[in-house]
Amino acid sequence: MTVRFSVMREDWLRGKRVLLGVTGGIAAYKAPFILRLLVQGGADVRVVMTEAATQFAAPATLEVLSRHPVYTDLFARSDEFPVLHVGLAHWADLVIVAPATANTMARIAHGLADDLLSALILSTTAPVIVASAMEEEMLLKPQVQENGRKLLELGFGWVEPASGELASGSFGRGRMAEPDAIVAQAAEFLAHRQPSQGGDLADLALLVTAGPTLEDIDPVRYIGNRSTGKMGYAIASRAGERGARVHLVSGPTALSDPVGVEVQRVRSAAQMLVAATAVFDGVDAAVLAAAVADYTVRSPSTEKIKRESETLSLDLVRNPDIAAVLGEHKKEKVLVGFAAETEPGFDRAREKLRRKKLDLIVLNNVLEEGAGFASDTNRVTLIDAADEVVSLPRMAKLAVADRLLDRVRDLCRSRGRKPDKAAPLKS
Ligand code: PMT
Repeated sequence: MTVRFSVMREDWLRGKRVLLGVTGGIAAYKAPFILRLLVQGGADVRVVMTEAATQFAAPATLEVLSRHPVYTDLFARSDEFPVLHVGLAHWADLVIVAPATANTMARIAHGLADDLLSALILSTTAPVIVASAMEEEMLLKPQVQENGRKLLELGFGWVEPASGELASGSFGRGRMAEPDAIVAQAAEFLAHRQPSQGGDLADLALLVTAGPTLEDIDPVRYIGNRSTGKMGYAIASRAGERGARVHLVSGPTALSDPVGVEVQRVRSAAQMLVAATAVFDGVDAAVLAAAVADYTVRSPSTEKIKRESETLSLDLVRNPDIAAVLGEHKKEKVLVGFAAETEPGFDRAREKLRRKKLDLIVLNNVLEEGAGFASDTNRVTLIDAADEVVSLPRMAKLAVADRLLDRVRDLCRSRGRKPDKAAPLKS
């Protein structure tokens, strides 16, 4: 049950969503230290505790340090995650269970799901790392060793417990590794982990566009929009986790690259068109979530425009429509677009679907609270080429991504699609 780790990646936590599971052992008092290290590294951390863990560490401490509610109850209500264990499972990029008691190890190894932590671990496709802690006699029991081996076989990360003074006062193996060692080993586990294999999208290559495009006016100013890239990154990230080869063409965003996804950063609509068309031949499907500027400046100034006159007019020309260009060349590929509307917008979405030769369009009303730009949730309606309309409730963008990818997968399968080129995606 020993895994060795050797290389440390820098900055690996920035922008990561980490779920810290805390279970009922005395080492739970170290959970706030793990949490602090994760937050200092730039991660967004949420905490789930078992009932027993609350006997050893105060939920309020973890709530303050994470700046999120701490969940213990499988049936707790949450506006953000209507089905709590599923929402948290989709939300997480990484799950760390520390400390993990022998009981928790057994429950995870055997697929039990009767409390929040075990249910979300059974639901997530994110990597899960287990840092166990118990008395030595317990650790050495064949049942516990067997459960540890099973977790490794199932692909869990394992942080070996250390030797030293145990809760009982005796010395031996079993105390939880120190917080910095747990965080370092989580980095190593991720660095060496193969991108998910055998997921339901394993035979698909996907192009995703995300974020805004920026159209320069002069070296100082540009025309932009409110897209943060969250929707497109959620799609790219979930597609990668489900086994697809993903090429993400992203406008400028503050988000970090999703793990296992090939990311190409661009600035303008013209650059996004070049990047998207360069890889389009090699994919089975494209999902276009980017908010592409419809107009660009005809002749951007090479110098800063001076503040000399009362008014200033910009001469704008229409940008190429990337979706429509891809639609002209799509053959059997599956092409999915978004429609960002400021009204219900069903007819406008249908018109975009037809004009751009899309197979599916994802309609969202960007004026609605909890939908559209910048929020972590979205409320969308999927309209396909046969005019089948499916309205989804408001849910996390990661969950929207999953529902959308289910449709992409089914459309690809119905066409018997295989990638045109088996080689890795490269522009
Ligand atoms: O990034 P977030 O902050 O998470 O916000 C998400 C989002 C609101 C940006 C996203 O959900 C969304 O709606 N994306 C599409 C935005 C948009 O440009 O919609 P549109 O209705 O103007 O365009 C329709 C489709 O054509 C889109 O797929 C768009 O990518 C594409 N398009 C548009 C113009 C253009 N010149 N070329 C294009 O390819």
